[in-house]
Order: sequence, then C-alpha cells, then structure tokens
Amino acid sequence: MEKTQMAMLKLVLLGPPGAGKGTQAKSLSEELGLAHISTGDILRQAIQQDSELGKEAKRYVDNGELVPDGLVTKMVIERLERPDAKRGFILDGFPRNIKQAQDLDGFFAQEGYSDYKVIYLDATEKTIIQRLGGRMICKKCQAVFHLTNIPPKEDSRCDFCKSELYQRQDDREETVRYRLSVYAQATKPVVEYYARQGRIMEFDADRESSVVLKEMLQGL
Ligand code: AP5
Repeated sequence: MEKTQMAMLKLVLLGPPGAGKGTQAKSLSEELGLAHISTGDILRQAIQQDSELGKEAKRYVDNGELVPDGLVTKMVIERLERPDAKRGFILDGFPRNIKQAQDLDGFFAQEGYSDYKVIYLDATEKTIIQRLGGRMICKKCQAVFHLTNIPPKEDSRCDFCKSELYQRQDDREETVRYRLSVYAQATKPVVEYYARQGRIMEFDADRESSVVLKEMLQGL
C-alpha cells in the first residue's frame, strides 16, 4: 500500500487489557499520520475534568466495568465525525461488545467506510499481569512508562514534562483480573464477529513493541 493510502486508513485495534493497544496505537498514528482515538483516554480525561461524562463514567472505569453503551458510542461517533478522523483513524478500546460493534458497523456503512481493517493484538495472562502491574502514567501529559520494561529516567517523574507519574486505579491486580473476565465475556466475541467478516489481522503482542510495530506495518 502507498504512503498516501496508508494516511487514509481506518483501523480498529482490539486486544486484552495490557496487550499494548495504547502503546502501538500511538506509534502507528505517528508513523501513518492517523488520528488516535482511545476511549479509555477520553474517559479518563473526562474524569480528571469532572465533566458530566466523567461523573457518570468514574465508578465503571475505576472498577474495571464497561461504561454503558449509550454513553460510549455517542462519544465515539462524535469524535469520528471530526475533520481529522475523516482523514483516517485508529480506534483503540472500541468496540468492546457486540452491540458496540454493530452500532459502529452502522456508522461505517453510513459513511461508506467499507474497507476498514481490524488489528488484533493477543497477549498471555502472564504478560498482561506483568505489564499492568508496572504501568505508570504521567499526570499531566499522559505519557506511559513501565517500572521495568520502559522505566522513566528519574524515579516517578515523566521524562517529557517532569510531572509526577501515577498508577491507574484499575491496574491493581484484583481489578486487572476482573477486567480480564469482562474482556473474555464481552469483548472476545467481537474478535470472532470481525473474524467472520474476514477482517482480522492477528499479531503476537507478547514480544517487544518495536517487533510488533514492524510486523503490523508490514501487514498493512
Ligand atoms: P482502556 O484504557 O481502553 O483499558 P484496556 O483496554 O483495559 O487497555 P489498557 O489501557 O489497560 O492496556 P493497553 O492494551 O492499551 O496497554 P498499554 O499500551 O498501555 O479502558 C479503561 C476502561 O475504560 C475500561 O475498563 C472501561 O471501564 C472503560 N472503557 C473504555 N472503552 C470502553 C468501551 N468501548 N465501552 C465501555 N467502556 C469502555 O501497555 C501496558 C503497559 O505495558 C505499559 O506500561 C506499556 O509501557 C507496557 N508495554 C506495552 N507494550 C509492551 C511491549 N511490547 N513490551 C513491554 N512492555 C510493553
């Protein structure tokens, strides 16, 4: 595929918590000039700002439960209608159940997006627990680090803006295990839904980020 076509890509990124969706979506969006739309990031920002959406979403996000479809789908469609997304996007964290996938298909049909692709990053439970247990996020610029895999240069400080790093409330081990059960029950069927449509491109996300990125770019 040529570079100009790559910049118009419509991508959906699926995978369990901690597979590296946010990490890879950031690299892919920079590499290909696509809008990175992360539902988790939008919800956490709304919570930080204490907006109406944030107030409604907080207890679900903190407990690792899915935020009700009505709230999330509306938020995603509004974001997809913005001009930057019309030129190409990576959807990270949506859809997360069959209803969301069907609603997204309805929107894509209306927009004439018949050629969108679905990237599925798979990772083992051992990797997921190790990654989420060590993840640290910058309070200000949201840059993502890992205590051992991608350690910040200064203890608990962001390399880029020097602000404090924090651990997500839903990254505590018992909540991670609950999120994995939500994934298995609600989101895994979405992988099968897209597999039936012949859209899935699957990658082993247990490996180093740069290896996974290179393979995805080759696959696209
Ligand atoms: P969301 O933020 O989307 O969480 P998630 O899907 O559980 O995914 P994570 O952000 O935990 O992991 P990731 O795969 O992005 O991994 P990352 O790249 O950070 O959603 C949070 C919550 O919001 C949900 O629980 C729900 O409440 C709500 N929500 C969101 N979308 C929703 C929807 N559609 N419907 C309803 N509710 C919704 O990597 C993890 C760590 O590993 C990092 O420290 C990173 O540095 C490190 N790392 C990454 N890749 C590698 C690698 N290859 N090697 C070594 N380390 C790596």
